[in-house]
Amino acid sequence: MIKTTISEVHKYVDQEVKIGAWIANKRSSGKIAFLQLRDGSGFIQGVVVKADVSEDMFKSAKSVTQESSVYVTGKVQKDERSPLGFELLVTGLEVIHESTDYPITPKEHGTEFLMDHRHLWLRSRRQHAVMKIRNEIIRATYAFFNENGFSKVDPPILTGSAPEGTSELFATKYFDEDAYLSQSGQLYMEAAAMALGKVFSFGPTFRAEKSKTRRHLIEFWMIEPEMAFYEFEDNLKVQESYVSYIVQAVLDHCSLELKTLGRDTTVLEKIKAPFPRITYDDAIKFLQEKGFDDIEWGDDFGAPHETAIAESYDKPVFITHYPTSLKPFYMQPDPTRDDVVLCADLIAPEGYGEIIGGSERIHDHALLKQRLDEHKLDIDAYKWYLELRQYGSVPHSGFGLGLERTVAWISGVEHVRETIPFPRLLNRLYP
Ligand code: 4AD
Ligand code: MG
Repeated sequence: MIKTTISEVHKYVDQEVKIGAWIANKRSSGKIAFLQLRDGSGFIQGVVVKADVSEDMFKSAKSVTQESSVYVTGKVQKDERSPLGFELLVTGLEVIHESTDYPITPKEHGTEFLMDHRHLWLRSRRQHAVMKIRNEIIRATYAFFNENGFSKVDPPILTGSAPEGTSELFATKYFDEDAYLSQSGQLYMEAAAMALGKVFSFGPTFRAEKSKTRRHLIEFWMIEPEMAFYEFEDNLKVQESYVSYIVQAVLDHCSLELKTLGRDTTVLEKIKAPFPRITYDDAIKFLQEKGFDDIEWGDDFGAPHETAIAESYDKPVFITHYPTSLKPFYMQPDPTRDDVVLCADLIAPEGYGEIIGGSERIHDHALLKQRLDEHKLDIDAYKWYLELRQYGSVPHSGFGLGLERTVAWISGVEHVRETIPFPRLLNRLYP
C-alpha cells in the first residue's frame, strides 16, 4: 500500500493509497457518506459508498466526528468538479483518535472567539490557504535574493538603539543595562552591507504601537535588504522587481489557495515592474484636489489618504521624497533641496496601505552626526554606526518590506491578524 499525502494524490490515479488525515467536515445519507479530509498538505473529499464497504465501516464513516484523526485508504479518482481535481473512493477507515465537541463548528463564529481558538482555527480551509501563501512568499523571498547575489545576514533582536524613533520601543532589562526588542535590523544591515555588499535580513520586529488597525501588529516579520553603492533609483528597481517576483510566485504555485480565498487573480497578474511613482509634493496636491482639505504639506498620510492615492493605479505606487521632518534621522537629503529626503514608501493597491519603507542612507559622517543630535539621540549608542562613515563610507540604500501586510494584500485578506500564525495585537497575547 502506498502511503502518501493529499497534495501528491495526482501521482496515483486509479491506485489505492493510504493517507493520515483529519475529518474537516462530513455529510451523509442512507447510502453514501462524504468525508472532507485534510492532512495539512491539502483537502480532499472521501466518498464512502454503503454498498461497497462493510456494514461496520459505513457505520464508522457516518459516526466519525469533526477533527477526529484517521488513517484512510481509498482509490484515487479524477473528479473535475472538485478544486483539487481528485477524490478518494474510500475502502478503509481507521480512527486514530476520536475528537469530541470540537469548538469550531461549520456555523459562523465571531472574530474574538476564533482568535481565542487560533491554535485550532489554523486548521480551517481559509487559514490553511493564507499560511500556504505566506510560506510561498517566504520561499520566493529567499529565492529572489539568493538569485540576485544577496547574502542573508541576521541582525540581533536585543539592541541598544532605536532606528525608527524612540516612542514605539519595547524596553527590557539586559542584566543591568536597558535594552529594546528590535524595531528594525536596518542599522546592523548597513554594517553588514559594508562587509558583504548586498545583504538581506528576515526576522521578527517589534513595535509597541498603541494602534488598533487592520494593518498593525505588535510583532511582525520584516525583510530588510541593504545594498552598498546603491543609490535612490537603484533601490526602487530592486523593490519593484522583488515585489513582482513574489506576486508571480504566488500566482504560479498557489492557485488552489487563491481560489479558496476567492482572490481575483486578474488584479495580481497586472503586478509587473516598473511601478508608478508620485512625489510627496504631488501626492499632497492630488489629495487637496480630491477634496481632502484636512491635509497640507508637512503632514503624514493616514490610511484614507494612502487608499485614495493607490486607487489611481492598478499597481503598487511609490510615494517619494517625503519631508525630512516626517522621516527618521538616517535618510539622505535630496541634493537639490534640503526639505525632503531620498526615500520612498510603496503603497499596495486596493487599500492595503504601505508595504515597504525605504531610502538612501546618509553616508557623510558630519551630516549623520548632526542629524543624530537634532533627533536628540544618544551619540554613545550610535558610536559604532557613525564609525561606518569613517572607514570607506559609500552611498548605500535599503528598504524594509512588512511580510504580513504583503500576505494580506496578495491573499486579499482584510486584516493582518489572519496573516501570521499567532498574532500579537494590542489586546492579545493568547494563545
Ligand atoms: O516603514 P518602516 O517603519 O521602515 C523601517 O523599519 C526601515 N528601517 C526599513 C528599512 O529601510 N530597512 O517599516 C517597514 C515596513 C512597513 O512598510 C510595513 O510594511 C511594515 O514594515 N510595518 C508593519 N507591519 C505590521 N505591523 C506594524 N506595526 C508595522 N510597522 C511597520
Ligand atoms: Mg514606514
